[in-house]
Amino acid sequence: MRMSVIGTGYLGATHAACMAELGHEVVGVDVDESKIAALQSGDVPFFEPGLPEITRRNLDNGRLRFSTDYADAAEAKVHFLGVGTPQQRGAYAADLTYVRAVIKDLVPRLTGDNLILGKSTVPVGTAAELQVLADELAPEGTTVEIAWNPEFLRESHGVEDTIHPDRIVLGLREGSTQEPLVREIYASQLAEDIPFLVTDLQTAELVKVSANAFLATKISFINAVAEVCEAAGADVVKLAEAIGYDDRIGRKFLGAGLGFGGGCLPKDIRAFMARAGELGADQALSFLREVDGVNMRQRDRVVQLAKQLSGGSLLGKRVTVLGAAFKANSDDVRDSPALNVAGQLSLAGAAVSVYDPEAMANAAKVFPTLTYAQSLRESLEGAELVLLATEWQEFRDMDPQEIAQVVDQRIIIDARNVLDPAAWAAEGWQIKALGRSL
Ligand SMILES: NC(=O)c1ccc[n+]([C@@H]2O[C@H](COP(=O)([O-])OP(=O)(O)OC[C@H]3O[C@@H](n4cnc5c(N)ncnc54)[C@H](O)[C@@H]3O)[C@@H](O)[C@H]2O)c1
Repeated sequence: MRMSVIGTGYLGATHAACMAELGHEVVGVDVDESKIAALQSGDVPFFEPGLPEITRRNLDNGRLRFSTDYADAAEAKVHFLGVGTPQQRGAYAADLTYVRAVIKDLVPRLTGDNLILGKSTVPVGTAAELQVLADELAPEGTTVEIAWNPEFLRESHGVEDTIHPDRIVLGLREGSTQEPLVREIYASQLAEDIPFLVTDLQTAELVKVSANAFLATKISFINAVAEVCEAAGADVVKLAEAIGYDDRIGRKFLGAGLGFGGGCLPKDIRAFMARAGELGADQALSFLREVDGVNMRQRDRVVQLAKQLSGGSLLGKRVTVLGAAFKANSDDVRDSPALNVAGQLSLAGAAVSVYDPEAMANAAKVFPTLTYAQSLRESLEGAELVLLATEWQEFRDMDPQEIAQVVDQRIIIDARNVLDPAAWAAEGWQIKALGRSL
């Protein structure tokens, strides 16, 4: 099927390439010329394992192309909308400028009968609002239906999650007859018996933000328990393992540490609270304020721990921060806890050296004043304190004996609880972590 994907960031570029991989004829459209130029030449401008390969394969076989021209999108009758919905400046609510801009730029160019499938994460009620806008802008004789098809992909597993999702959710307006068309788009997934849930528009919009709010709550829950563990001399890692065996709870997303960040969870819980407030249901989500608060507190706790381990002052201390991405296997530094802490340490006077296997270029754009090392080893040279802030495998695999030869002092904070404290202590390291009385 011929289709366009508007917005080719982490979500859109992945979706476009995966739809082509599934056999569709896809054009990805974005307003960012350099991004489109890179994608069109087969260079994915961000780190997503597996994506460069399927992008190149489908550019070569002619099923995938990229353009900055909305006229190219208008050749299709099915359009996925995947532009950003960041947090508004100075407010909790989502900024819908880009989503509305797509409707304004696309709809007047359309002919015949069209379906726009929203993938961006939006406040409940957005699809209905965009439908009104689309109806106003549609040329005579053109129909445009807005449906919502929220995206659940995880960065770093984007390709796998798009081709084999856990579930497909489709929100349709009352009286819609578009379900068979969407079933055709996702025919190969449906053949795998992937659950396909058809809902009204509001429910589909809310499914996505609820899923993210639940995940955020789970992480902040374990981090709150970690604070109690520390006060009581207990071990949150063992505790998480023990409660995780209960399959009503599950072990995933119970990693105590520096907390969540990235381009989704923080802004999505805030936008969810803001929208609930607009709907007069603000009390229902007031706990998310606490979820956010617990999460942000972890960053301060790590900074305080670093200060304490530096004898009360970070002034002039050589601190190595391992990780800049918000999570491993990603180069995304949006609201990254690692980078936030690196910045705070630097502002407190420490000489911070940052190393990340993939996110250095993005980190340097956000925090140009930090020092970025070329390799793990270089970042560790002469360190008086090491802070593991993103759980990259390269950091998990560090050999405490080898690293000890490079640093100035054997002090490490494992802010992701991924190292074996006994192995590090055996090599003479002072190792500290959140939620454990080490
Ligand atoms: N990144 C994820 O893992 C993920 C997962 C699920 C949902 N989402 C949601 O998907 C949306 C996009 O997220 P992302 O991470 O891909 O963001 P992103 O910033 O990586 O990409 C957004 C893209 O939209 C483009 N854009 C902006 N205005 C445009 C316009 N008028 N026309 C065409 N292109 C335009 C930008 O240039 C950018 O390339 C957000 O709502 C996000 O919450 C993201």
